[in-house]
Amino acid sequence: MNPIRPLLLAMAGSPTWKRLLTGWSVTHRVVARFVPGETLDEALGAARQLNDAGMMATLNPLGEDVSDPEQAMAATDAYIEILDRVAAEQLDCSISVKLTLLGLDLDADLAAANLERLLSTAAQHGNFVRIDMEASEHVEATLSMSRSLERRFDNFGLVVQSYLRRTTDDIDRLVQAGTPLRVVKGAYKEPEHVAFADKRDVDHNYARILDRLAQDDARRNDVRVAVASHDAALIAHARNLIDELQLDGWEFQMLYGIGRPLQRQLVEDGYSVRIYVSYGPSWYPWFMRRLAERPANIGFFLRHLFD
Ligand code: FDA
Repeated sequence: MNPIRPLLLAMAGSPTWKRLLTGWSVTHRVVARFVPGETLDEALGAARQLNDAGMMATLNPLGEDVSDPEQAMAATDAYIEILDRVAAEQLDCSISVKLTLLGLDLDADLAAANLERLLSTAAQHGNFVRIDMEASEHVEATLSMSRSLERRFDNFGLVVQSYLRRTTDDIDRLVQAGTPLRVVKGAYKEPEHVAFADKRDVDHNYARILDRLAQDDARRNDVRVAVASHDAALIAHARNLIDELQLDGWEFQMLYGIGRPLQRQLVEDGYSVRIYVSYGPSWYPWFMRRLAERPANIGFFLRHLFD
């Protein structure tokens, strides 16, 4: 393990470090490149700019852990407010939702009821809800909720993580159901019996998943695929598949502020691109955890201090 990682994780949870770093204007300048702000207005402004640059957006309000049903209801109301504002401002912008914020850890039925409320509002606005995939202990509950809702709603999609050993099996069923799928590598710390430890295996599995999603049955079932990665080799692989097989309904997704030249290039070359915009007052622990996941990013962030 990188020795800086525990330090960064400790800093993520430390009020003293939070006070020091959030009070420093340099931090704000660096963070602003990756988090457009703390408020919904700022996030909608970023979505507007992305739309103007030919890209779609998906908003991810950064939330604190939910510890009672009222907080889960409040989080649901906040997601609904985003959908209402996006509709009022006529933005090309979906939302990305975490089931734990809707109360999954408290009570799966509560989370399902909140999700239904959200999907109904999104349907009224003709919008789409992406259910982010969280750590592996939530995968089964997420898939089961999707199964119970797929007959009534067609405006939500799931995320599959290429680091998980189980994903290949999950995909076969998701393809039969025609579920829209975002493919990611996976962002959580998982034990080796659950997830591939070697990055090469994760990358290889990602390419295999894309190949699987380009097969005839997925195309027959109109599975919409979002290739969510900044990995140039995998993006090139996806581009080849899209071009050679004339795949419809595929899009690229990247995180706000990361890989901007690649984002622009894809738009210029005529592909659909959606940017995942995280925002909110809880940006500090989120930002520090992203750094901890990838301590190499410290250099990346520092380089961008001056451009
Ligand atoms: P990799 O990590 O191999 O990076 C490839 C290259 O991209 C790097 O060499 C670097 O150049 C650049 N890069 C990548 N990340 C960077 C960073 N943070 N800063 C600077 N440069 C970076 N995960 C999950 O478990 N559940 C989910 O629901 C989602 N949702 C999601 C949505 C979207 C739109 C994206 C882009 C990602 C996610 N993820 C996610 C996160 C995902 O699992 C993964 O952790 C990150 O995308 C990083 O992996 P890459 O595929 O970019 O490859």
